[in-house]
Amino acid sequence: MNFELKTLDLKAAASHASDALIVLIATDFKPASDAVSRLIAQARASGDLDATPAKLLSTWRTPGVTASRVVLVSVGEGNARLVRQAVTAAVASLKAAAPKKITICLPDGTQQRLQAAAQAVADASYVYTATKPSAKAAALSRVVLALPTTAKTQAAKDDFAHARAHVAGVALAREWGNRPANHATPSMLAKVAQTLGKHKRVRCQVLGPKEIEKLGMGSFAAVARGSHEPMRFIVLHYDGAAKTQAPTVLVGKGITFDTGGISLKPGAGMDEMKFDMCGAASVLGTFEALAQLQPAINVVGLIPTCENMPDGTALKPGDVVTSMSGQTIEVLNTDAEGRLILCDALTYATRFKPRAVIDIATLTGACVVSLGAVRSGLFSPSDELAHALQEAGEAALDPCWRLPLDDEYAEGLKSNFADVANVGGRDGGAITAAKFLQRFAKDYPWAHLDIAGSAWKSGAAKGATGRPVGLLLQYLLSTVAKPAKPTQRRAA
Ligand code: BES
Ligand code: MN
Ligand code: ZN
Repeated sequence: MNFELKTLDLKAAASHASDALIVLIATDFKPASDAVSRLIAQARASGDLDATPAKLLSTWRTPGVTASRVVLVSVGEGNARLVRQAVTAAVASLKAAAPKKITICLPDGTQQRLQAAAQAVADASYVYTATKPSAKAAALSRVVLALPTTAKTQAAKDDFAHARAHVAGVALAREWGNRPANHATPSMLAKVAQTLGKHKRVRCQVLGPKEIEKLGMGSFAAVARGSHEPMRFIVLHYDGAAKTQAPTVLVGKGITFDTGGISLKPGAGMDEMKFDMCGAASVLGTFEALAQLQPAINVVGLIPTCENMPDGTALKPGDVVTSMSGQTIEVLNTDAEGRLILCDALTYATRFKPRAVIDIATLTGACVVSLGAVRSGLFSPSDELAHALQEAGEAALDPCWRLPLDDEYAEGLKSNFADVANVGGRDGGAITAAKFLQRFAKDYPWAHLDIAGSAWKSGAAKGATGRPVGLLLQYLLSTVAKPAKPTQRRAA
């Protein structure tokens, strides 16, 4: 999808060549004397344009308008959420017409609205084709985002660049999330990372079984043992600032298929465990966005990736493994494998002396029970980091919700045979999982995002969402050092 930014008033939009013109109409819209304005005024006067957000009115071959289709869509007071809703509805209404080029006139161009509009078009027109040759690729290839001529050009350009990078990052995460486990193996994810490594300021290093064992990642290696697919540990660097600037480290869970291992999962719905690498995919997507935007920050991406399979050589309930941190872990349930691969990556993260480490994982069914598909679970002992991530989530329409980390929740993780057990009881399962990870994240400010509910949809619309790339990108960009304001001389 090719996005373009333009400043067009409605008069210019009317003569702009496009297959369809979508006009978002806010409550405070003031009609001018052009053809589109007249249409809106008449539609309003006759009561045919409902002012309820996302209600729309379509016209065809409207006199004075070049585009053969016009979709007028109400957007209420026009915040980003409403923009997303309105654009989604408008694009859906054009499905049968299959336009190649659409132009969307936005009421105003804050970054959030621009991003919401771009993401809504991308989401509505995404078609999965990688293993489905019969699927028809989307016809839509050009999208013009049009802002009123009053928009500030430089700010709009920056906002547009952010929106476009966001869309590209989400698309990459979504695509790789969707690919079946036999088309998205650990080695294939490593290839994606290596391709990202070709971008300016991005480097990639991929470790195989020998190197991983040598590092002492006994917990990660134990999970991989039941599979014939060799594990990979992917290390990505984005170097956008001076070496002296501490990086933010992102750690993504990359279980390319989770059978549960010897603690085998029930068969129904097990196919969805191909999505168990969506944390990894979100790290790859975020790097794609960073490569496009080139912000002045340093970021490291760590992806432990393997399959969790039952096998004669597989890890067994009761086995004790030694993590890279030196802590021993009694594996009471081989299906709690995400934390076993993440803990070693969290230990590895220490070497970067990070300013913050954020892990992203489809970690627990319990998180889906708590928060459903709307908000990701957020855990952090640092109020500052938690608030920054919450704020980023709200701004990017990719929200999360903070859950507690009281030490009492770790009671159940006690083991008679190791320093820690990999599961507590059933109750508060998302929190006990986070408490387990916290033991390995003591050297730096840390946050954990449980995306088990938000990373993909089940049912008829089954598929990855590309979340939480939006949240991560928004957060990372918020850490860019702002140039110091020149000191004002005080009046005498
Ligand atoms: N990948 C799953 C978590 C999951 C389950 C995500 C269902 C989305 C939907 C994870 O590896 C897992 O199996 N977790 C177990 C932990 C339990 C054994 C303590 C779970 O949530 O059931
Ligand atoms: Mn599992
Ligand atoms: Zn899992």
